[in-house]
Order: sequence, then C-alpha cells, then structure tokens
Amino acid sequence: MSPIEEVIINKKSNINPIWIMRQAGRYLPEFREIRKKNTDFIRLCLNPDLSKEITLQPIKRFGFDAAVIFSDILMVPYGIGQEVKFIKNFGPKLGDLNLINLDKISEDSFTKNLSPVYKLLESLKKSPEMVNKDLIGFVGAPWTLLVYMINKVSPKNGLKENFFENGNIINKTLNILDTIIKLHIKNQVNAGATIIQIFDSWAGLVDYEFNKYLYNPTKSLVDYTKNLGVPVICFPRNIKDYPEFCKIVKPDMINIDYNVDPKLIIDKINIPVQGGLDPKVLLTDKNNMKKKVLEYLTIFKNHPYVFNLGHGILPETEIDMVQELVKTVREFK
Ligand code: CP3
Repeated sequence: MSPIEEVIINKKSNINPIWIMRQAGRYLPEFREIRKKNTDFIRLCLNPDLSKEITLQPIKRFGFDAAVIFSDILMVPYGIGQEVKFIKNFGPKLGDLNLINLDKISEDSFTKNLSPVYKLLESLKKSPEMVNKDLIGFVGAPWTLLVYMINKVSPKNGLKENFFENGNIINKTLNILDTIIKLHIKNQVNAGATIIQIFDSWAGLVDYEFNKYLYNPTKSLVDYTKNLGVPVICFPRNIKDYPEFCKIVKPDMINIDYNVDPKLIIDKINIPVQGGLDPKVLLTDKNNMKKKVLEYLTIFKNHPYVFNLGHGILPETEIDMVQELVKTVREFK
C-alpha cells in the first residue's frame, strides 16, 4: 500500500507522506522549458507524451509520494464544448455558455474529447517511477466550475454583478456538471487514478445557500467516488466551517487552507488531514520555513496527516526550498 493510502486507510504510515498542490508547474525550469515551446495550454494538456513528462518531473526531482496528473479543472468545460483559453499574465478566459449547447452534450463525445487525459493515466500507471506511489486524478467541484463557466474569468476581483441573475442557467449547469464530473471521475479511475481530489478553490465565495452550492453537489461526487472504491480528498478552500463540511460531506481526507488555525481545528475534525502551510512561507528563508513546517508536523503528530500546502505552490518558489521542505518532512520523527 502507498504511504498516502496507509494514512487514509490505516491512519498511519512509516514515513511522513508528502506531495504538493500544483507540483507539476511553473516553478520548475524543466516545465517552463516545455511550456515555452507549447503556447497552447489545452493542447499541452492533451499531449499524452509531454503531459506524462511534466507529471513525472516533480517525482524525479523530489520523490513525492504522489503524482498529480498534468491537466486542469477547466478541461471539463472544454470537454463539454465551452471555449477555454489561457491568456498570459491574465489567466483563464472562457467563451459564452449557452443552454442549447448544454442540452446537446453527449457523454460519449465528452469522453472522446478528453481521451488523451485518460491515456495519460494509463501510461503513468505502467511507468516505473510510479511504483508504490499514488496517482492522483482530480476534478473541480461543481461550484468552482460553475463560477468559471458563468463568470468566464477568474473571480479574484469578485463575481460579476449579474452572476446569480439567471437561476435557470445556474440550476441546469449544476445538474449537467453533476453528471459530467462523475463521468470524468469514473474515466480517471478506470484509467488508473488511485485517489481523486476535488478542488473547490472558490468555496470561500459562498456565504449563504451552503447546501445548494457546496455541500449537496460535493457530497454527491464524494459518495460516487467512494462507491468506485477509491479514496477522495476535498479541498474547499477558504470555507468558513471546515468541521461542518467534514461532518456533512464526509470525504476520506480534508485538505485545509492556510487561513485555518491547525491548533483550533484538530479536535474538531476526526478524518485524516492534508496540507495547511502557506505557500508564501516557501518564499522566505530555510530557517523560517523549517520552523513553520515543524509546527504543522508537531500539531498533527498523533493525527493521520499528509504533508501538503494550503494552496498551490507559487511560480516564484526556488527549487532549493522545495528540496529542503521534503528533507524536513522526511526527517521528522
Ligand atoms: O501539479 C499540478 O497540480 C498540475 C495540474 C494542475 C493544474 N491546474 C495545471 C496548471 C492542477 C491540479 C490544476 C488545478 C486548478 N486549475 C485549480 C484548482 C487549484 C487552485 O490552484 O486553486 C484551478 C482554480 C485551476 C484553473 C486555472 N488553471 C487557473 C486559474 C490558471 C491560471 C493561473 C495559474 O494558477 O497558473 C490555470 C493554468 C494552469 N493550470 C497552469 C498549470 C501548470 C499554468 C499554465 C501556464 O501559464 O504555464
């Protein structure tokens, strides 16, 4: 059994497992080298040879306990026919979503559109670097995908004023997302994913109707994934009440963000915990980072814990700091 599965299933492992959100990405010079020559991000995600190489880059460099496939949560809107572009120094930009298109989506064409992602998993599964490691497939949670599909750009400056105006489109999109995200989960599991992580990066934007937008849609995916026999990790970033989320949604493991005080939460959560450390700590110095890493490891010493960050690693992070981070986690007893 892999170290992460040991933590999830047996509640302990002989080593302190570690992987990092967004570990396959822009802080790695070898990724930037490939990215320079491949300006179309979606096409890069759909190139099984290059996406395999990128997925394995952080495994080869740092020996993490899991590989997270090089893909994106926005491959789901892409797969159902919404235009998705990644613009340099701006981020994702999506095309219009119209109800007629939503009505026409077929499961077969979705699976066909994303078949390179599933090929990537099959090929990673056979790769020697992956022995005794987890292969993490992932999806965006319905709320976060709804946000991108309707807002059409990142909501980092807030949702558009008319976001909630068309209740019909919102309800219909949530329904379709439930079906299509489950299909994407099933396809990833069939192709070899050993764990599924659900990213709800914009969960913190919901401040009422938690059931409608967060708990019900996520629980539906969690139940579905558990039924496939694969552990599921939830990351409802910046959500107000993590313990309540865990009680209602019941994932196999919860990834906390860096605004959560681990000391205050540990007694209130009775499932395995992942993550927490502020990725900005990796931009400081080694001593400070070590101190902060040891704080998390000490607090979670007697709680099933997988080391990770409280959000994705920042592009400006130095390789040296990641190396030191892994060393600190591995040496902690
Ligand atoms: O190691 C990995 O995690 C790689 C696979 C991965 C990517 N995106 C590749 C990527 C994963 C798991 C994601 C998840 C993702 N994508 C999330 C959830 C996690 C989070 O960060 O909150 C979200 C919200 C997205 C949507 C997205 N994709 C945005 C907002 C952006 C632009 C800004 C950014 O964070 O880079 C992307 C592009 C993207 N996805 C890149 C990578 C490596 C950068 C592409 C580039 O410009 O080179």
